[in-house]
Amino acid sequence: MKFSASLFVSAVAFFAASVSAAPSTVWDPTITSPIMGTVWTVGTTVNVTWSTTDQPSIVSNAGQIFLAKDQVQMMALSGEFDLAAADGSYPVTVPVVAPGDDYQVVLFGDSGNIGPSFVIAV
Ligand SMILES: *[C@@H]1O[C@H](CO)[C@@H](O)[C@H](O)[C@H]1NC(C)=O
Repeated sequence: MKFSASLFVSAVAFFAASVSAAPSTVWDPTITSPIMGTVWTVGTTVNVTWSTTDQPSIVSNAGQIFLAKDQVQMMALSGEFDLAAADGSYPVTVPVVAPGDDYQVVLFGDSGNIGPSFVIAV
């Protein structure tokens, strides 16, 4: 039997030039809620919370909270706020979205600061 087709495998290397060293004063707090097991109900007010144990004395970046689904950022849940003054908690209203168990919040710091998946229910 003769193989008439050749398979060419291209190895493409992506060099993430955008991954840069963040200034030390940009703080990415560890999200403590919502986490695995958290259930948010559409239309209610909930607190996004984070650990302040590693909070630097000077936080130069503003905080802002986004909702992501399946790791893709969907919408802002808050405006920008003073991350240091918020002291580990910020209230948001759960938007009207399809129920699902693959939601995450992104807490700036920066866009890489994404929490674990949690549930939004109707
Ligand atoms: C959110 O945090 C505020 C302030 O700590 C508290 O009064 C309120 O009960 C919290 N809300 C929820 C839904 O946990």
